[in-house]
Amino acid sequence: MPLVGSREMLYRAMEEGYAVGAFNVSNLDMVRAIIEAAEAERAPVILAAASLQIKYCRLDLLAATCRAAADAAKVPVSLHLDHGPSYEENVACLRAGFTSLMFDGSAKPYEENVRLTRQVVELGHSVGLGVEAELGRVLRAANEPTPADIRGCFTVPEEARAFVEATGADYLAISVGSVHNMVKRSAEIDLPRIAAIRELAKRPLVMHGGSGVPHEVVKQAVANGICKFNVSTELLKQLRAGMEKVFAEMPNELNSRVLMPGPLAMVRETAQEKIRLFGSAGKA
Ligand code: 13P
Repeated sequence: MPLVGSREMLYRAMEEGYAVGAFNVSNLDMVRAIIEAAEAERAPVILAAASLQIKYCRLDLLAATCRAAADAAKVPVSLHLDHGPSYEENVACLRAGFTSLMFDGSAKPYEENVRLTRQVVELGHSVGLGVEAELGRVLRAANEPTPADIRGCFTVPEEARAFVEATGADYLAISVGSVHNMVKRSAEIDLPRIAAIRELAKRPLVMHGGSGVPHEVVKQAVANGICKFNVSTELLKQLRAGMEKVFAEMPNELNSRVLMPGPLAMVRETAQEKIRLFGSAGKA
C-alpha cells in the first residue's frame, strides 16, 4: 500500500496501549529487512532516516526506495525524518515524499525550540502530516554522559504540557533516561516521569535511544505512554555481527547477494523481537 502518515498510526497506538517501531534505514537492504520483519509480525512500521543517513543514500533515491517498498508491502509503512535539524530539511523531505516530519530543537533554548517547532508543525499540518518534536535532550553514548548529565536533560512534565500547547506538535520525544547509540541495554528509565508527561501532554510519546532500554523495561515504558520506539544501533550491531560471521565462513565469496542474506536475517529477527515487545504485532 502507498506510504501512510504516522499520525493515525501513533494515535491508535496511544488508544490501544502499544508502540510502533521506528527503525533507521540507510540502504535498500535495511529497508527490505525491516519491512519483512513488520510483515512477518503483521505490524505497522516506521522507516526513519536522519540527516546523515539521507545524505549517504541521497534523498531522492532513499525516498523512491522506501516508496516502492511500501507500495509492495502488506502492512502500513510510514517514512519519517528523524531529528530534522531545520525547516528547510523538512521541506526537502516533504517534497521527496516523506510522510512524517520531525523538528529537533532540543539543544536550543526553550523559546527558540517553541518558535522553530511551530513553523514545522504549520508546514506538516498544511499537508495533513504529523510532526514530532523533542523537549529535554537525549544524549549520545559516545560522549560518555554521567547519570547526572542524563538526569540534567530530563523532560519536565509541566514544561511538556506548555510546549505541546504552544507548538501544536503531534508527538513528543522525551528524555527519561535513554541515551543514543548504547551498545548495552543498561539505560535506567524513569517510568513515573513518562506517566507524568503523558498525563499532562496528552500526546503519543517517543523514546529515542531504544537500543539501550532493557527488554523487561520496554513493556513498562509502553504501558506508561511510549507509543513510538526508535531503534537503530541494535540493528546495526546485528548487521555487523552477521557480516563478520559470513566473512569468516566464506573468505573467498565476493557476491553481496550471497554474503548479505545471513546478516539481514539477523537484522530482521531482531526487528521482529522488538516489534513483539512493543506490542504492535498483529496491529496492521
Ligand atoms: P539507538 O541508535 O540508540 O537505537 O537510537 C535510535 C534513535 O533514537 C533514532 O532517533
